[in-house]
Amino acid sequence: MGRLSWASWLYIAAIVSAAAAILALVPRGSVGPGFWATCAALALLFLVCDSTPIMLGDRQWAWSPSSAATLAAVVLLGKHGGVGAAMVGSAAVFSVRRVPLAERLFNGAMYAVAGYAAGTTFQALHGQFVPFCSISDFLHGVPVSSAISNSFGMALWPFAAAAIVHVLVNHGLLWGMLLLDGHSRTAQPQARPTWGLPLLLASDIGFAALGLVIAALWAVFGAFAGAIVLVPLFVARWAMGQFADQQRAHAATLRALCQAVETKDFYTRGHSERVSRGAGMIAREIGMRADRAEAVRFAGMLHDVGKLGVPTKVLQKEGRLTEEEYAAIQLHPMRGLEIVRDIGFLNEALTGIMHHHERMDGRGYPMGFAGSEIPEFARIIAVVDAFDSMTSSRAYREATSIPDAIAELRKSAGAQFDPKVVDAFAAAVDRDGWPRQEPAQPRGHEILTSQDHDDPMAPLQVVERT
Ligand SMILES: [Fe+2]
Repeated sequence: MGRLSWASWLYIAAIVSAAAAILALVPRGSVGPGFWATCAALALLFLVCDSTPIMLGDRQWAWSPSSAATLAAVVLLGKHGGVGAAMVGSAAVFSVRRVPLAERLFNGAMYAVAGYAAGTTFQALHGQFVPFCSISDFLHGVPVSSAISNSFGMALWPFAAAAIVHVLVNHGLLWGMLLLDGHSRTAQPQARPTWGLPLLLASDIGFAALGLVIAALWAVFGAFAGAIVLVPLFVARWAMGQFADQQRAHAATLRALCQAVETKDFYTRGHSERVSRGAGMIAREIGMRADRAEAVRFAGMLHDVGKLGVPTKVLQKEGRLTEEEYAAIQLHPMRGLEIVRDIGFLNEALTGIMHHHERMDGRGYPMGFAGSEIPEFARIIAVVDAFDSMTSSRAYREATSIPDAIAELRKSAGAQFDPKVVDAFAAAVDRDGWPRQEPAQPRGHEILTSQDHDDPMAPLQVVERT
């Protein structure tokens, strides 16, 4: 959290007040020492997990399987499961991690509210978990199969519902905070989470199932179960860490390729990132599936990677190109495909890279595809690519204003661009805005090229062959 707005502070105060009201419901005289001992052991387990999170995205999002401890409380503490889970979740306030006080309070209150909502759901669905054997029965091999199935039968579906409620409340409260705090985060685009929300929700619900495992072990081993479950919890944490590392490695691969292109062609500085962002805006506008939306952002990032295969003197040439030089530029989509086609995670993004210069009237390159023959990703990249080129300043002209660039896209819709994609992009820009481009300033030996192959307002000049 950066500097908070007053709305964010009000939001935190409301969540903390709700958590305080829930914790005030803690039964005092009506529970035995077992309730407090279970709460304390699970709160300790919660703290161990919460204090050793893995970092997601660009290391700005902490994740841990701590909610498994909260959900175990939901199951183990009977009719007081809601309040007990709230107490376990509120332990986040004492996390050993270095976090600002406001974030610490928000986290504790958020987990308390989510735990209470999960516990209330479990009780409302008449969830029960009857310990199916003692440690003595367990050690003496007493058969418990029917008791296990009965106990799980009574707990399973209410637990599944409680886990879903816990995850939804947790993420709902968190995203509320992010929306209110959005103005300070939009200043740093990389601070936004790069993970798809559905993926995060699904993995959280999956890891929440460990709460039931903890409860089952608790029935046999008592509080020692807390120590035993640390092993699967840390294996889960390790698996998520591996996945997060892989995501970061993908992002680093993309950044390295983009930097290589930007070094070669000064005009493309920041262009790849913006085309990627615009492609993501269109994907959101047309309701594209999360995995395809991520792939089209990759396509936007890498669409011009094939420039690495075009001689630098051609990219930076002033004046008219010869036919051979023009042919070299027209080859860049194919070169791009050759460069990145073995990168496994790109999948459908490859179609966007190869066909981003096709035109709806079939006069584009490299294949001369027309209309629906052009892959959807390529039709999306083509629109944002041209828009970003027009709204960036060039050596031969000033940047075009956003309304004029949208008007230019509409003028060429049908002939060059897919009209539906143009409409979607115009609506997305209207909703989200578009970052203002600072005029390009070359550094040191860098040369400002005098032509831009993406600029629909100034097509490349080619010498007629005599
Ligand atoms: Fe291109």
